[in-house]
Amino acid sequence: MNQVRFGVIGIGNMGTSHSNWLVNGQIEGAVLTAVCDTDEKRRQWAKDEWGDKVAVFADYTELLDSGLVDAALIAVPHYLHPEMAIAGLKRGLHVMVEKPAGVYADQIREMNVEAAKHPELKFAMMFNQRTNPLYQKVKTILEDGTIGDLRRVSWMITSWWRTQKYYDSSAWRATWSGEGGGVLVNQAPHQLDLLQWLCGMPVKMEAHLKYGSHRDITVEDDVTAYFEYENGATGSFITCTHDALGTDRLEIHGDNGKIIITDSQHVTVKKLRKPEDVLNHELDFRQMLALVKGQAGEKLYDEESFSCPENWEQQHIDVLINFTNAILCGEELIAPGTEGIKAVEIANAMFLSDWCGEMVSLPVDGTKFYKELQKRVEKEQNSHV
Ligand SMILES: NC(=O)c1ccc[n+]([C@@H]2O[C@H](COP(=O)([O-])OP(=O)(O)OC[C@H]3O[C@@H](n4cnc5c(N)ncnc54)[C@H](O)[C@@H]3O)[C@@H](O)[C@H]2O)c1
Repeated sequence: MNQVRFGVIGIGNMGTSHSNWLVNGQIEGAVLTAVCDTDEKRRQWAKDEWGDKVAVFADYTELLDSGLVDAALIAVPHYLHPEMAIAGLKRGLHVMVEKPAGVYADQIREMNVEAAKHPELKFAMMFNQRTNPLYQKVKTILEDGTIGDLRRVSWMITSWWRTQKYYDSSAWRATWSGEGGGVLVNQAPHQLDLLQWLCGMPVKMEAHLKYGSHRDITVEDDVTAYFEYENGATGSFITCTHDALGTDRLEIHGDNGKIIITDSQHVTVKKLRKPEDVLNHELDFRQMLALVKGQAGEKLYDEESFSCPENWEQQHIDVLINFTNAILCGEELIAPGTEGIKAVEIANAMFLSDWCGEMVSLPVDGTKFYKELQKRVEKEQNSHV
């Protein structure tokens, strides 16, 4: 194969962007040959836009069976991701899934089991922030051991401002039945994936969620979570969609220093000249104060800063290029599909903790989570009757 023929399932906001990048030749080695959407208007738009160059389907299984595609890119509402990915893999197609991997961990486990049966196929997630050079550099700094073992991570990501008109723009958004949640399944999956990609998976989670806070929606739009790691390190994660003056600040604190990232664009790395454990044993209170105030004749830490402008479009294009190269020449995937479950596990744990009023262990109890989710789906559906 010297060219990957893509079929995009779902040509709404995101699927249309993917399709355009493919049609415009921005993904070397890839071409758009088919799209699918259940919405007649979107199908007509595709026909008007691309004519005979791109086949248009109403049923995704027809696209998968058409013989016109080597890879399926799934950009429909989240609940459908695992089912469509499994269908693609079963037909011998490479699959890329938009974030999040799905809504509940059990459906994603099924998808991963299917993927494991097809090691010859490339299965990837669209975690576009993983190609952001800034986060790639931060990951290298962490892996180099610059700041030592993790002690604490905190991410305040309240810059996901969404107005009521956004929520009202399509029926599936911000509902338990159509979307499976709010900020934790739509916006924050980007940060939840980065969090685990950079710092690993937490083992315990406690969270407090607010539902329809300042918005007319039934799902969560305000989250405050506390979590713990295997080594005893702690974390906090705060997100919401109703803050017009939102904050994006990630701090990762280790034995030997800390990394501060603001607005996903500016990074400061502070490396202690001696590990905190050593200073803890060496210094008395006066010496400690002198060092902190810069009066000790030596510095507490060395500092390095850098910035990287955020390029949302290029991030996606780079993930698509990586996926294409993985198919054509075996390049290592930046975001393997099987890793999609991790961000979903973290979100599921946050929900379950709030719903049950307790600290929960990860991996979450999938059956319990699904049952609790169904209660909310049913309540929402009954309220519409
Ligand atoms: N990576 C990112 O930055 C990013 C950004 C936006 C959205 N997304 C993800 O992309 C997915 C889609 O989000 P969106 O904002 O484009 O939503 P959207 O509502 O704009 O588009 C979804 C499209 O899927 C179609 N669809 C629904 N069910 C279908 C089915 N069974 N078969 C075929 N088509 C079907 C709808 O008609 C619609 O056109 C979501 O999972 C979302 O999380 C990712």
